[in-house]
Amino acid sequence: MSTIKAIEFKDGVLYLLDQRKLPLKKELFSCKTFLDVDFAIKDMVVRGAPAIGAAAAYGTVLAAQEFSTDSKEVFLNKMEQALNVLHDSRPTAVNLMWAVKRMRSVLHDNKALTVKEIFEILKKEAELIFAEDIATNKAIAKYGNEIVPLHATILTHCNTGALATAGYGTALGVVREAHYGGKDIFVYADETRPRLQGGRLTAWELKEENIPAKLIADNTAATLIRDGKIDLILVGADRIALNGDTANKIGTFMLSVVAKVYKVPFYIVAPTTTIDYEIETGQEIVIEERSSEEVTCIEGQRIAPEGIDVYNPAFDVTPQENITGIITEKGIIKAPFKENVLKIRK
Ligand code: MRU
Repeated sequence: MSTIKAIEFKDGVLYLLDQRKLPLKKELFSCKTFLDVDFAIKDMVVRGAPAIGAAAAYGTVLAAQEFSTDSKEVFLNKMEQALNVLHDSRPTAVNLMWAVKRMRSVLHDNKALTVKEIFEILKKEAELIFAEDIATNKAIAKYGNEIVPLHATILTHCNTGALATAGYGTALGVVREAHYGGKDIFVYADETRPRLQGGRLTAWELKEENIPAKLIADNTAATLIRDGKIDLILVGADRIALNGDTANKIGTFMLSVVAKVYKVPFYIVAPTTTIDYEIETGQEIVIEERSSEEVTCIEGQRIAPEGIDVYNPAFDVTPQENITGIITEKGIIKAPFKENVLKIRK
């Protein structure tokens, strides 16, 4: 079973397994201030929608710790600013905004208490967000496992595992569940250019647990799908609109198109915290654009000519008509998505 721990809050410090360095180095990145967390999210020391939500929740705790000697008024003002900074650290994954909103409302509900008491309450809330995410992923995995055929060959994109969440994973959590349940599955992992989350992180998680797998270059996926080598595609999500349109790592949309042509089931696997109930369609999702160096360089080594222009969106939107279903902790949502998404809302 997965013992990978990517996020740990201990003795007033947030320790993150540095995902920029994996799999070559297993180093911890220590966050002592909320700005350290802001940096860690921006630079992708920690990444994956649920993981950045949990990290931001602990970032709020670090802010409360930093401002603990201030007067109540100053403390509350500085906390608002810190929450705004954390909220804006990356734009696409709605779990981040969801976690910040939850921490902000706990702060507001308890603002009559002492600074020390508020700190303790915020710390408990962050711990709750963390623990709930693991429980949610286990529930997702149970539902997801129901649609995994015996001996299935599963294709996955990016990293949706223990590293991308508080633990266990979403799409990779379903893979874990099927593997440990004895379904004799096989995984093809897309390497996921430009940041190589599949090659560096998913491949590492699969190797750590001896889950049978092969790593492929992204451009190999279509051939495998056409040749009937893939039974099921499982991917994560960064934001799901009410109509089911889903933002996920760049390249997901392309996979969904090929899957539709060759009639391979294509599932989104995500907690309901990834659903943005405020937006109707994927057109409203802000897609993060990252630096050109992610494309022109690998491990700091330039591979493209100096001065070449680059377009580097980190995510794309898969239209709902390409999605077979959305696997959540509350069950599997099928079309009509809007109607069924609203039904499972608490
Ligand atoms: O840019 P990243 O690595 O944060 O992107 C991650 C993804 O796109 C994941 O598929 C998504 O966050 C789901 S993680 C359970």
